Amino acid sequence: MARIVRRTAMEPSSVMIDGKEQWLCRCGLSRNQPFCDGSHKMTRGEASDKLYWYDDGGERHEVAEHFPDIRSA
Ligand code: FES
Repeated sequence: MARIVRRTAMEPSSVMIDGKEQWLCRCGLSRNQPFCDGSHKMTRGEASDKLYWYDDGGERHEVAEHFPDIRSA
């Protein structure tokens, strides 16, 4: 089963865990969830009125149809 989840954040959040600063992924693209791996940099240049998906190579693709009612995480 698969699903589309809209994420609009383009940078991580900083949290302290056991006295160490950690960066949590908010963009949904990290391969090291829940931690940021820098993949959010791929979101630079996204248009706010478009919906995109990214392939395994990190290439951006625009979804032809818009899904305005998709829940944002
Ligand atoms: S916020 Fe998702 S990879 Fe950095």
